[in-house]
Amino acid sequence: MKLQEEMLIVSQKEVAEDIFELVLQGDLVNDMEIAGQFLQLKVPSQDLLLRRPISISSWNKQEKTCTLLYRRGDKTTGTYLLSKMVAGQAIDILGPLGKGFPVDEVTETDHVLIVGGGIGVPPLYELAKQLSKKGCQITVLLGFARAEVKILEEQFVQLPNVQVKVATDNGSYGYQGHVGHLLNQLDQEADAVYACGASMMLKAVATKFESLERLYLSMEARMACGIGACYACVVPDKKDPTHALKVCQDGPVFKGNGVVI
Ligand code: FAD
Ligand code: FES
Repeated sequence: MKLQEEMLIVSQKEVAEDIFELVLQGDLVNDMEIAGQFLQLKVPSQDLLLRRPISISSWNKQEKTCTLLYRRGDKTTGTYLLSKMVAGQAIDILGPLGKGFPVDEVTETDHVLIVGGGIGVPPLYELAKQLSKKGCQITVLLGFARAEVKILEEQFVQLPNVQVKVATDNGSYGYQGHVGHLLNQLDQEADAVYACGASMMLKAVATKFESLERLYLSMEARMACGIGACYACVVPDKKDPTHALKVCQDGPVFKGNGVVI
């Protein structure tokens, strides 16, 4: 199994305000199977030693491509330099890394809820593709700060068996309010729940579905190595607070009752 590669940039474009879609091509795509895993990107600067962890949003095995969506920071950041890279350039990539969203136990009779917030939405798209193929019924709740930073809604809508609801904090698109408000309007029980987004949103999801066995939350943490060697990314284990879990290796996706948010 290959873990590091100079992948080719096939395309890069701004798809929402300060949000870029980056399509990469290379052999690492052969190892992409589980939605929710991430790549460590080396931005082209000798001053920036740490890689940037970015989730895999989707992949295409035939074309050996994968798509990432990331938010560009200000001019001092690595993602700003990343956004200046163009098609035809190569970028040093490590991955796919971490544990993703388990889908094996989901059956076609299940109602699955997917909850995403902001730049936490991208890995949920490949997840929805995989669940949609299983034939189960899927409700997707997406929350964004405002219409200008909304991403991937059209792609989710096109998937079979998927119903999508969008909320924006300022009401410029969809329901006005936090995505947590959409949770309270659900008229159907969920058999499995998957979520990725800010910790406030994850807390709301974890509280509402605390007794659900199949609750999976994707966590974010500052990372250095990304491969379990440095302890930069630890979070407390809910079952044993003296034990630390590494978000890069034990996660980023955890069972909802397994980690302190
Ligand atoms: P800088 O300020 O230059 O970063 C300085 C250092 O801090 C870098 O090492 C950087 O990696 C780290 N850092 C800064 N902010 C964060 C953060 N929020 N989380 C983790 N490390 C941070 N962002 C996306 O836009 N799209 C994604 O799909 C995505 N997936 C992620 C998946 C995982 C598992 C994790 C842990 C984070 C993910 N992030 C994603 C967040 C992304 O890694 C940070 O926004 C990014 O690293 C910030 O880098 P920068 O160059 O803009 O900022
Ligand atoms: Fe080094 Fe997780 S980033 S252990």
